[in-house]
Parts: sequence; C-alpha cells; structure tokens
Amino acid sequence: MNKLYGLIGHPVGHSMSPLMHNDAFRQLGINGHYHAFDVREEKLSEAVNAMRVLNVTGFNVTIPHKVAIMNYLDEIDEEAKMIGAVNTVVNIEGHLIGYNTDGRGYLTSLLRLLKKPLKDSNILVIGAGGAARAVVIAMATHGVAELTITNRTREKAVMIQNHCKKIRQDINVIPLDNAKKIADKYDIIINTTSIGMSPNIDAIPFPIENIKQKAILSDLIYNPLKTKWLELGEKKGLTIHNGVGMFVEQGVLAFQKWTNQKPNSERMTEVVIEKLGGSTC
Ligand code: ATR
Repeated sequence: MNKLYGLIGHPVGHSMSPLMHNDAFRQLGINGHYHAFDVREEKLSEAVNAMRVLNVTGFNVTIPHKVAIMNYLDEIDEEAKMIGAVNTVVNIEGHLIGYNTDGRGYLTSLLRLLKKPLKDSNILVIGAGGAARAVVIAMATHGVAELTITNRTREKAVMIQNHCKKIRQDINVIPLDNAKKIADKYDIIINTTSIGMSPNIDAIPFPIENIKQKAILSDLIYNPLKTKWLELGEKKGLTIHNGVGMFVEQGVLAFQKWTNQKPNSERMTEVVIEKLGGSTC
C-alpha cells in the first residue's frame, strides 16, 4: 500500500522537503508519498487529528507550529521536550509521537566538516531563538570545550543557559560587543539568527575582522546558499558551513524514524542544492 507522509506548516509553498523525501522514496523503492499541507494556526488541532485518522505514517512540522503541536501529540520524546519543540511526528496506529531532529541534524552536518574534535572546540552561538536552543542542546549534549551564547536580547540567552543547566552548568552568556572583542578565541561561530537571509542578503550577524584564521563560520541559513557573512569569511580564508547540511540531516533522521531505512544524504544534498540553484559549500 502507498504510505502517506507530509509536512504541516504555514506557509509551505517553498518547502524543499517534498522534493527531498519523494526523491529518497524513489531511490529506495519505497511506495510512499510526501505532501506539504498548508495549515493555519487555528486549524492545527484539526489538522493533527486528520493526520491521525487518515493514517499518515509520519510528518514534519515547521513554522509556526513546532511548539504548539506538542499540545496535540500522545507522546513526546525526551530530547524534543528538552528543546521545547517538535519537527517530526511518527504515527503508530493513531498514537502520535513527537521528536526533534534539528539539533542532531545540525551536529551530524557539522561533525563531517571538522578537523579538530568538537570536544576540544570553543563555540560561540549567535542568537537565542528556537534554532539556537536546538543547537545549544546538541552541543552541550555532545560535549564541547566551551559554549557561549550571545544575543541582542540578553534575557533570551539567559533563558537557554538556565534551561540547559541539567546538561551543562557552565554555558556562558555574553553581550554581543564583548563577543566581538574576543572573537579570536572561538573555533566555531554559529549564526542561528535570520540575519542575512533572503531578501535581506547584505546584512551580517557578526563582524569577520577579529575571527581567527582557523575558525569555522557556520550559518544555519541556506537561502541564500552563501550568505554575505559566509562570503566574507571565505574571502578571509575561513572554513564555511551553510544551513543545507542541517536541513538535509534533520530530514535524514526523520526519514529513518518513519521508514527504518537510511536515505542517501549526498543525493538529498544534491537535490536540495539544485533546487536552490547553487553549488555546495
Ligand atoms: P528561530 O526560532 O528560527 O530561532 P526566533 O525565535 O525568532 O527564530 O529567534 C531569532 C533569533 O535571532 C533571536 O535571538 C533574535 O534576537 P532577539 O532575541 O533579540 O529577538 C535574533 N535576531 C533576529 N533578527 C535579528 C537582528 N536583526 N539583529 C539581532 N538579532 C536578531
């Protein structure tokens, strides 16, 4: 029987998930179809119930429903609870289980790039929204030498710091101006804000000047594929890492939860990059 998978969010018109997952189904000879459902906030509860009764085998959840969906699920995995958001749901005979694959997806993608162990790295995370929370939890769980959050609104960074005390007690929170002054101490600088995202492609989240030559600039944004920030970093000779890897790997992890099969992440990356009209970095 053809199994149905999907995405609920609003808007979903530009999502690359249907393309990526449907290609993976074809590659693996799985009789499945992934569809993007445009669901407005006031219809979320009905939509989740529809997924349940229509026997949609698994689905992703995106903006603006990642937090609200938790109210309508039957079970939530510990990591998703910790992150406070769900991006993947598995439907087992009407019993809906929520997971979050964003943080691990990011970690998988970053680890591929590293020459020095992550455990020995000093990390700076810029931003303190939902994406930052997933990244900080993934880093704290994996283990890094030092973990620092900087954000325009300090209180939000402190909220993540407090929230993560169970996993790590020594996460630093510092003002952006201080982080800029000591930028040369960080091995990996991660932008989790939307600064530089299309259409505001000339904005950068953090100055490049003081960042050391061996550092990695990691931007969660994938549209554009190379943000202005990454472009400037590359010009300086830094290693750059864009958001495609996180997007693909969160999808790989979701796909595995739904099908127990591992899709080819290189192929998925190619499909996504081709759609975005660029080359990889
Ligand atoms: P997401 O869930 O995708 O992470 P979010 O919750 O809106 O999105 O968080 C976005 C983060 O980017 C926030 O930390 C935000 O800073 P504030 O906490 O001060 O709001 C940060 N951010 C977004 N646009 C920004 C800008 N122009 N300058 C500085 N920080 C910005």
